Amino acid sequence: MCGIIGIVSNKPVTSNIIQSLKKLEYRGYDSAGIATIVNGNIDEKKCTGRVDNLEKILFKYPSAGFLGIGHVRWATHGIPSQINAHPHSSDEVSVVHNGIIENSNQLKKDLEKKGYKFKSQTDTEVITVLLTDFLKHFDLISSINKTLKKLNGSFALGILIKKHKDIVVGARRGSPLAVGYGPEENYLGSDSYALKSMTNRITYLDDGDVCILTNSKIEFYNSKNQKVNKKVLTLSNDKNTAEKGDYKDFMSKEINEQHITTKTCIKEYVDQLRQDINLYSFPIKPENIKKIILIGCGTAYHSCFMAKYWFEEMMSIPIEIDIASEFRYRKIKFDKKNLYVFVSQSGETADTFAALDLCKKNNVKTCSIVNAVESSIARHSDFVLPIHAGPEIGVASTKAFVGQMLVLYILGIKISEIRKEISKENYLKKINELKQLPDLIKLTLKCQDKIQIIAKDFLNAKGVMFLGRGFSFPIALEGALKLKELSYLHAEGYPAGEMKHGPLALIEEGLPVIILAPKDRYFEKTISNMQEVIARGGKVILITNENRNVISENVRFTLKIPNADEYLTPFLMTIPLQLLAYHVASLKNYDIDKPRNLAKSVTVE
Ligand code: M6R
Repeated sequence: MCGIIGIVSNKPVTSNIIQSLKKLEYRGYDSAGIATIVNGNIDEKKCTGRVDNLEKILFKYPSAGFLGIGHVRWATHGIPSQINAHPHSSDEVSVVHNGIIENSNQLKKDLEKKGYKFKSQTDTEVITVLLTDFLKHFDLISSINKTLKKLNGSFALGILIKKHKDIVVGARRGSPLAVGYGPEENYLGSDSYALKSMTNRITYLDDGDVCILTNSKIEFYNSKNQKVNKKVLTLSNDKNTAEKGDYKDFMSKEINEQHITTKTCIKEYVDQLRQDINLYSFPIKPENIKKIILIGCGTAYHSCFMAKYWFEEMMSIPIEIDIASEFRYRKIKFDKKNLYVFVSQSGETADTFAALDLCKKNNVKTCSIVNAVESSIARHSDFVLPIHAGPEIGVASTKAFVGQMLVLYILGIKISEIRKEISKENYLKKINELKQLPDLIKLTLKCQDKIQIIAKDFLNAKGVMFLGRGFSFPIALEGALKLKELSYLHAEGYPAGEMKHGPLALIEEGLPVIILAPKDRYFEKTISNMQEVIARGGKVILITNENRNVISENVRFTLKIPNADEYLTPFLMTIPLQLLAYHVASLKNYDIDKPRNLAKSVTVE
């Protein structure tokens, strides 16, 4: 999704802007651009495709300038094209924008009546033109305020103004924005990850804030236009984990390091000496929780789905799940005794943040499970549980999904223990079993070679079905999402028992069907559903446990994962599905880390 960088320095900034834009590439984008002030004029360069293309343009036509703004765009209004790429500049003003201006059509019409002409199809250009117009009549601060007042929707902005050639202006409403402090230079960024290569001292803007950066200071104004001081945070130094190392791409690194990330996470939450889970200061006493509602989007929603199945087994209270983009607009009956849990890798997903905000406005207690601990969702929750997975760069979430499930599982065990819903003995047993999870994941990762062979079967597939029951159903959903995202194949996850109610009509000769049938209470039933698929010509890939022998001549491939406790099996089931999506996409030569149309951090609605 879109990303912003701004730098004001006492030396040329172009190359640092380009390097920072490269850090933002993981978010997914379709075009890029930069503007600096050179000899008192705005110099704008933009292109479609990768930041590399922009770098080539700058190599040919260098852009000097001691201050500038850069952007990677993920198209919302208007096709991906050079004209629609950001920045959008007039002679006086240049703007980069993340978010959506909902009333841009009306504003455009009003400005056209005044004689202004628009070059692009974007909503952003109205900001450029509005500000250009106000600057003709008002001073800088009033012009910015008047412009922002006119805008409906969400934005994070980076602005250059020809008349004020020593400053970069930032503004935030709804979309994240931060500033960073450097030596004789200061930075603006939509993402602390991009700023991290230059500084670890940052400040996040709050909604309604405007900031003005020079190379020696940063000033902040709040939504009431009062000058305010803001806290400087020191970011943790986890730069190394964001390197690809010897891996071909980030995704394969992220899949293959899951035994390490889970180990780190377990160490953070499980007290090895006391055999206890380190979770205290819950926002509501676990004994008093009436209901738990788990909310997320995409993969994060699937981890909520998994937690619902676990929590219902472990606790006597109702457990609900919700997709954030639906939750935020429904007439929810809030209850102060409920715990609202938000799951988000990035912690910046606009829908999840809006759902969290709605909870806050209704004075209910919130807990967030995030990977990015400095994110907006983390900062606005009553209780934050990091997944300790390290930066996840591949757009398709893998280690973060496993991390989210892990923290949810740990949370579930702890809440049930405090509520006395599981015995002390069972609590200790679960903790001990949990400690074996990293080794089990490591063993499961060995199926890589087999998956590479299986993946070849998918090259000419029209679609794929993933079937599971009980704990395997949420994993089937996630397996289908991963395959869709990476291989662009139509894939559906279904509860195996639901097939005969409609989806069975999709089964035809040669359709690949992945059957998740671990050794659990549903095993025989799932195998019966598998036979129904085989009888109709489906090409079955069965994933089961090592100690299961399924005699069926018509199963194309059987893949065995290590035997494990029923609650831990979903973690292991996930691994071959991640690898399958990876290898199918790899055989098709698709961009693994940046699948088409997708973004890592979905900061627009
Ligand atoms: O950062 P979040 O966890 O809030 O992101 C939610 C979804 O956008 C994300 O999980 C998406 O579905 C991924 N592309 C999944 O691989």
